[in-house]
Amino acid sequence: MRILLHRADGQTEPWIKDFARHLPEAEVVVWRADEALPPCDYAVTWAPPEAMLQPLAAVKAVFLTGAGADGILKFDAQLPHSVPIVRLGDAGMGVQMAEYVTHAVLRYYRRFDEYEAQARAGQWAPLPQHNREDFSVGVLGTGMLGMRVLQALKEFGFPLRAWSRSAKSMDGVQCFHGADGLDTFLRGSRVAVCLLPLTPDTANILNRTNMCKLPQGAYLINVGRGAHVAEPDLLTLVKSGHIAAATLDVFRNEPLPVQHPFWQEPRITITPHISALTLRRESVQQIAGKIRQMERGEPVADVIDRQYGY
Ligand code: GLV
Repeated sequence: MRILLHRADGQTEPWIKDFARHLPEAEVVVWRADEALPPCDYAVTWAPPEAMLQPLAAVKAVFLTGAGADGILKFDAQLPHSVPIVRLGDAGMGVQMAEYVTHAVLRYYRRFDEYEAQARAGQWAPLPQHNREDFSVGVLGTGMLGMRVLQALKEFGFPLRAWSRSAKSMDGVQCFHGADGLDTFLRGSRVAVCLLPLTPDTANILNRTNMCKLPQGAYLINVGRGAHVAEPDLLTLVKSGHIAAATLDVFRNEPLPVQHPFWQEPRITITPHISALTLRRESVQQIAGKIRQMERGEPVADVIDRQYGY
């Protein structure tokens, strides 16, 4: 069995070692644009270069080393639907996302961002507490990561809301769905957490019109994709105070260019796309398990639905 491996960071050796441990029968071939490839049975990539599409079209399945499929589905029309694309299912990402979002929500709820600024200015000034019952947290996206975040937030007693494409129901979470539900969802979410997949339907969903529907003084946490947010509109709304502060882990251009105005805005907290990192060992173990299932003719979990793009 041969596995075609593509790593944008060029760090292939540790992946090859982990595959040798978890799938010793497989030979791992590293993708290089300028070299002829032997036929491969499976491919492991996340956001493949366009030049890789031809070998990808000839494998039994493509395994993504991430949760989001937008990096490959931008080539949707060039990839045959007969080749399943399988994303990572948790593999250690859920708990990281829960940590990240919980930290950001609590930082705003307990006003730590303001206390950090006060401490830098040498000020001792207790601020009024936010009311828990007014601090509703609305999560856009109820996939594996969205659900894990909601589960973590339940502990703190905030009113919880969720928005998804199709109807869902969850204990202790007020659920909204579809274009019709978005308006009501946004109007009642003091904190909006974006954990949507990036698809043609969700691109730019946090545009000016929609962000204006959030209550005055709302907070935004974007851990989905940069293209969900209209960046200049967010900046305007933060400067006007409609959005009190934002925590952003993802951007339209990554790395965020040095001249980007977000860097200069103290109410925008920037992290370099680290909210839920791919854990290599867990990921290889999971992919190896799924390859074994496929070889036995069994169905595997986490296959991307090409109709919906996630
Ligand atoms: C990260 O952004 C991922 O899709 O796993």
